[in-house]
Amino acid sequence: MSKTIGLIAGDGIGPEITEATVKVLNQLVADFKYIDIDLGGVAIDKHANPFPDESKAKLKEVDAVLMAAIGGPKYDDLPREMRPETGLLGLRKELETFANIRPAKVFDALAHLSSLKTEIVKGTDIVVVRELTGGIYFGQPSSNDGETGINTMVYSKEEVKRIARVAFDFAMKRSRKLCSVDKANVLNVSQLWRDAVTEVATDYPEVELSHMYVDNAAMQLIKDPKQFDVIVTGNLFGDILSDEASMLTGSIGLLPSASLGDGSKPGLYEPVHGSAPDIAGKGLANPAAMMLSAAMMLRYSFDMDKEATMLETAIQEILQAGITTADLGGSAGTQEIGEAIHKQLETALSKA
Ligand SMILES: NC(=O)c1ccc[n+]([C@@H]2O[C@H](COP(=O)([O-])OP(=O)(O)OC[C@H]3O[C@@H](n4cnc5c(N)ncnc54)[C@H](O)[C@@H]3O)[C@@H](O)[C@H]2O)c1
Repeated sequence: MSKTIGLIAGDGIGPEITEATVKVLNQLVADFKYIDIDLGGVAIDKHANPFPDESKAKLKEVDAVLMAAIGGPKYDDLPREMRPETGLLGLRKELETFANIRPAKVFDALAHLSSLKTEIVKGTDIVVVRELTGGIYFGQPSSNDGETGINTMVYSKEEVKRIARVAFDFAMKRSRKLCSVDKANVLNVSQLWRDAVTEVATDYPEVELSHMYVDNAAMQLIKDPKQFDVIVTGNLFGDILSDEASMLTGSIGLLPSASLGDGSKPGLYEPVHGSAPDIAGKGLANPAAMMLSAAMMLRYSFDMDKEATMLETAIQEILQAGITTADLGGSAGTQEIGEAIHKQLETALSKA
């Protein structure tokens, strides 16, 4: 049965990278259907609402959501409830995505772009699984009366076990190594986290589980990133560590992500970067992060592992051939990159 993708082209460079991504997706899977969904700035312009009811309703018709990016300076002065980011938070809430998956893979041809020495980062291939809907960003009480600021880190055992299962499932599909990051030497909530993850481990005897304190994890990521495969952690630690891990790769234009729930609602796939208003409309944007997000969608929402690998390989090959956008030190434009990947895929498909 053909799958339907909710497509959020969004703002800034969004429409440019979406066009390039849909072209390669069509090449790989002929019978995908697409439904355009307005979110962020474009939705504010059209509907005076960053996440209008019409967009919400469309989510019921789709099997996965592929988003480019939203936001831009035009909307900076709007009140918070009207801003593009509020639309994105609303979307994540609507889809009940509690697991944020951020791969950080260093492509051999680009290892020299990392701020760390090539021999340290070359071969790095990490996935950070971050709990997204709990922890200190949502815990109560939370207040600031001008004298005292309060936030509360809360996790229930079930919340921890739910994200742990996602991480163990990822580990099973990769090298069967999982590192759980916490601060169990100081925080009660982390002690509970550690116990809950250890409990889930009994259902995954093939996975080698280790625990690490977050301060050590931050150091180890810089010292020897190759020791990690899948990392699972809470909302706050995951926010920081996933950004740290992503910077090992040297480019924001190459970082995909997925936000997943329990499978009853569509997964959300989007590049880590924003709408890059400084280069919007100039044909300079790197479409690779959105394409790599599309590859995650193929793999995790549609079980199309072969097609996902083909797309990832085609991207890697053009990088290796030195065809890159300015963010990676090259001079190719969005269209040129799209065409080069298209060509690689054509060759791969003819051999398949
Ligand atoms: N998930 C999202 O949609 C998302 C995420 C982050 C920021 N934003 C929004 O995007 C807008 C711009 O934010 P920002 O400037 O802080 O971050 P940004 O990621 O848009 O841009 C940061 C820098 O990276 C470059 N860059 C980003 N993506 C690129 C790509 N694909 N190819 C080449 N270069 C790329 C930009 O040109 C810029 O110099 C803001 O309105 C922000 O709120 C949206």
